[in-house]
Amino acid sequence: MTLDEILSEIGGFLACATPDAWVEEALKQQEILLIDHANCEKKAATTAMNLLYKHVDREDLLKKMSQLAREELLHFEQVIAIMRERGIAYRHVSSSRYAAGLREAVRKGGENELIDVLIIGAFIEARSCERFAKLAPLLDSQLEKFYRSLLRSEGRHYQDYLGLAQQYAKESIQPRVAFFRALEGELIEQPDTEFRFHSGVPTAA
Ligand SMILES: [Fe+2]
Ligand SMILES: [Fe+2]
Repeated sequence: MTLDEILSEIGGFLACATPDAWVEEALKQQEILLIDHANCEKKAATTAMNLLYKHVDREDLLKKMSQLAREELLHFEQVIAIMRERGIAYRHVSSSRYAAGLREAVRKGGENELIDVLIIGAFIEARSCERFAKLAPLLDSQLEKFYRSLLRSEGRHYQDYLGLAQQYAKESIQPRVAFFRALEGELIEQPDTEFRFHSGVPTAA
């Protein structure tokens, strides 16, 4: 698949495009954008590592999630290097409600929990990819190049998560995909007072 094909597939996978107001806010808050981006890369690695611990008997999952965790940590190092170059101090910033809002809806226990976690992983990767693509042409050349370089791997991560969910599900995952598509879309379109990489429509604090 070409990058354009992956991006168009992701556009169809997500319920809505990122609101323009979020893009405008991201351009104004590039320091927070980078700090929270670094956090997102760390969290993406953590999600993959948690799956490695929980599902030691699933060979394909072990292989894909191990690769994914390494790639996310590499992205993390790349963000940190850009922050250092720009004199941006890494500090703690709170998480947005986005991932927590998705995780609240996970069915607990066994196969259902695994399938839901994998589907959520696919949505977070897809949304990240969509946001990188939207921001890239509007950023300075270093960040544009960096965000473009992330598109391919985040696009692949989205496909890996979705593929694993399909592989391990005993029935069609489409109803759960539809459920999380709607929920993810709501989280993206709801107002948010604090700007983060996965926040909704910015409102004045
Ligand atoms: Fe990443
Ligand atoms: Fe990723």
